[in-house]
Amino acid sequence: MSSKSFYFSQRAKRTHEHPISYLMAEAVANPDLISLAAGLVDYQTLPSEEILELSKEIFSGGQRSAKNPLQYGVTPGLRELREILLDHMASSDGMTPAELSASVENMIITTGSQQLLFILTDLLVDPGDIVIAAWPSYFVYTGALETLGAEVYGVKIDQDGMIPESLRETLEQIKAEGKLSKVKILYVVDYHQNPTGITLSEQRRPELLEIVKEYSTEHKILLIEDSAYRELTYEGEPPSSIKKFDTNNEYVALVQTFSKTFSPGIKIGYGLLPDELSEPAMLQKGNHDFGSSNFGQTFIYEAFRRGLYKPHVELLKKRYTEKRDVLLNSLEEHFGDIEGVTWTHPSGGLYVWLTFPTHIDTHFEAALFQEAKKAGVIYVPGGFCYAQDRRQEIPMYEARLSYGAVEDEKIVEGVRRLSQAFQSVNKG
Ligand SMILES: Cc1ncc(COP(=O)(O)O)c(C=O)c1O
Repeated sequence: MSSKSFYFSQRAKRTHEHPISYLMAEAVANPDLISLAAGLVDYQTLPSEEILELSKEIFSGGQRSAKNPLQYGVTPGLRELREILLDHMASSDGMTPAELSASVENMIITTGSQQLLFILTDLLVDPGDIVIAAWPSYFVYTGALETLGAEVYGVKIDQDGMIPESLRETLEQIKAEGKLSKVKILYVVDYHQNPTGITLSEQRRPELLEIVKEYSTEHKILLIEDSAYRELTYEGEPPSSIKKFDTNNEYVALVQTFSKTFSPGIKIGYGLLPDELSEPAMLQKGNHDFGSSNFGQTFIYEAFRRGLYKPHVELLKKRYTEKRDVLLNSLEEHFGDIEGVTWTHPSGGLYVWLTFPTHIDTHFEAALFQEAKKAGVIYVPGGFCYAQDRRQEIPMYEARLSYGAVEDEKIVEGVRRLSQAFQSVNKG
């Protein structure tokens, strides 16, 4: 055995184990545990039948077209899929690609949208640079920000999403600190946000973009619009994307994924990038893996081409509406009469954000989590969804509940167990 150790990079040293790993391990170690923590999707509706049908069609015959999915592809992704996705994104806003000044060269396909979030951030952020994000926000991205050495400034949200005045105040503060040149990215999860389920209102969308433009005085600030849950809108039509207002394709990277609407096992994400970032992002993608799985992309392409994708999303919307209602009804039943306990009522997505009275600590080591685990249910402690922001103290009395993968009766039982844990802790 050598007495020497490896000398880790600064990036590796900044990377910490994520709490979700602990929550996953707990769920695996104890199969009776009901996990309202994991962000997995519904099992029943995963498209195994569609995949079987498509497989037969794609692979029978042995011609070249049957071999292509098994060969390397190209770095930006299958061109015919990128064309479809460009139209898909633009038409979701009632626009043509030309009206968004966008072409297929601005479309990139990645290994999940997480890879695209990482690449975009890596393109712009050096250690000490600033990323502004909603507070709370999607915590896996926050992990990437830590690794890349970004300083995070959190902006307050309300029931209409990120508050433009708070964004402006934050930017003014950064300016007063003489650090405006360090601001590289504004990150917004704008539909049924992970973790709160909140959607950015229609009115605020152009406002946020205008603020980004206004403060792009020394260089452009990139607005990353993470629309992972856009298509999982259960009530009415989702608002326009922020991208819709970026008609010169200059400031907004619109990022989406098939992980929630089709299959996370296929792990395909995609994005419409500002012209200036398209080529540099492809170069980074080349370094990562010179192209996402051709195999997975082929299934997505064929699902679109044969008209299977959209009906599948409709099916999911129905299923998740039922599950969401089971969760909301259970919360009403068990917490409806308890003063100081509130929760969001999302119109889509996979998450409900539960707020306890401020004296209830939801963290791992605290009594509520321990009692809940004993009773057989776990959740994501809300504190993990807040990036470290030296200006603000992280609230510790919230929880993220996901209803994606949990069966209906287990959602009901999970909330019952959580209320039992809450009662025992609240009594003191
Ligand atoms: C808001 C948000 N963005 C991005 C992702 C990344 O998903 P994927 O890499 O599977 O596309 C997730 C996954 O949970 C998410 O919730």
